[in-house]
Amino acid sequence: MPTVNPPILEGVRSWRWYWNYLNDPFNCLNRISRDHGNVFVLGNPVPFGNRGRRHIMALGEVANREVFSQPDLFKPGGQVIKGPKGSAHRRLRGGLLSIHRDLHRTHRRIMQPPFSKLSVASYVPTVTRLIDQVCDRWVIGEPFDMYEETTTMANWIAGHVLFGHDDFERSVQTCDLINRWIDLDVKARRLPLPFNIAGTPFARLLRHADGLERVMHELINDKRKEEELGKDILSVLIQAAKVEGSDMSDTFMAAHAVILHAAAFITTASSLAWTIYLIAQNPKFAATLDEEIKANITNWPPDAETVDKLPFLDGLIRESLRLLPPVHHTMRTATADTELLGVPLKIADRVVVSAFMTHRDPSIFKNPTQFDPTRWFGEKPGPFQYIPFSAGPRLCLGYQFAMLEMKLVIVRIMQRFRLNVVANSSIEADCKLTLRPANGIPMVVNKPDGAFAASPVRGNINEFVKNE
Ligand code: HEM
Repeated sequence: MPTVNPPILEGVRSWRWYWNYLNDPFNCLNRISRDHGNVFVLGNPVPFGNRGRRHIMALGEVANREVFSQPDLFKPGGQVIKGPKGSAHRRLRGGLLSIHRDLHRTHRRIMQPPFSKLSVASYVPTVTRLIDQVCDRWVIGEPFDMYEETTTMANWIAGHVLFGHDDFERSVQTCDLINRWIDLDVKARRLPLPFNIAGTPFARLLRHADGLERVMHELINDKRKEEELGKDILSVLIQAAKVEGSDMSDTFMAAHAVILHAAAFITTASSLAWTIYLIAQNPKFAATLDEEIKANITNWPPDAETVDKLPFLDGLIRESLRLLPPVHHTMRTATADTELLGVPLKIADRVVVSAFMTHRDPSIFKNPTQFDPTRWFGEKPGPFQYIPFSAGPRLCLGYQFAMLEMKLVIVRIMQRFRLNVVANSSIEADCKLTLRPANGIPMVVNKPDGAFAASPVRGNINEFVKNE
């Protein structure tokens, strides 16, 4: 591809864009795509440090293919603050999401068995029990925040599958600690020059990471004391550490556990909340889904294969992930001088790729803002055109698990209730980290009487999604 000259903003001129990008990535990437096409370069915001690192916004299928299919050339980087050498924060961020090359390949192989199709199917009895425990708390006619409920569900389920413990109290505590760690990281990232000065978000982040690391080591040590190790991920990591020559240290185990828990529950909680919202707001599709479930699921718990093969449910979840992908964009760092979309890249330059923008490309998805699960019955998009779980060798490890979990939750909710969004609620999609409902999703449940009806709502969701 010939070298092109995309717009490059250097120094102070780039600050406004960095600020826009950190605070409102959708708006920023939308404007870039509208005014400059698929590639845009932000120069180094400060005239020192980072070896003149630039950020290249590379939008669309071709960029996705180049970046995701060359993981050694484009390594992960930039999503989480690095932290000072020797800090707990830096150690914790060294989980599967951040490591690369041979280390990544080895550790990913070790962690794969609990996420195989067979293993995932074996979680159905536990997952369905936990879903019912959350649904049992809902009172007909009483409003509640659906996002809070899906967060609890995703947290309990992740806690069980990843760590193999039924101790909900502990699971909730771990979830809170990891959530806070991520929130502090997001806040600290907004500081132009993060220094460890008492009272700043950066100092709080480092202190919090110390505590989180301690809790994770306690979890690992308690697991070691159990008489029999299970099939959960922590047990798998502990077993891997016993193999001679394995480099699975306690430090790695703690980092993997934190990153896995974060990757599992934050994404699934958002995606579930959005999917449930979309079902409630699209009565015709809700009725079709209801019919499909009634016609095919007669037992509870059902077997994984039956749930997995419901075509309308599958299309509906894919469509929700298309329009509102929890991981709306991601970042990579060039490991060598190279070129992308004709732009010369230097080692350490960062590349931003966006699922949100790709999924709204009208040349891939006709009428892209329209919520339409039936679009999934026709020709399927290619692996770099639809990327809610990323693509290539770093495809989401929990992809099959997440899909089955979401399907089980939706089936059970449809069997037990009819859902309504509380009228005139403000539904705001916040994208500071994952794409989540900023003010939650206020909902009311009713008896499953089939009287599906949408509610008027306020907020930016009305710009992001057109309902039926
Ligand atoms: C709807 C739910 C989910 C979505 C949308 C999702 C999406 C993603 C995406 C986009 C990535 C790539 C991130 C990047 O490269 O920057 C990723 C990676 C990952 N996800 Fe998920 N994920 C979901 C659920 C889960 C679950 C349930 C688990 C575990 C139980 C999980 C574990 C992981 C892991 C370990 C990685 C890192 C893979 C690697 O780098 O090799 N995810 N996920």
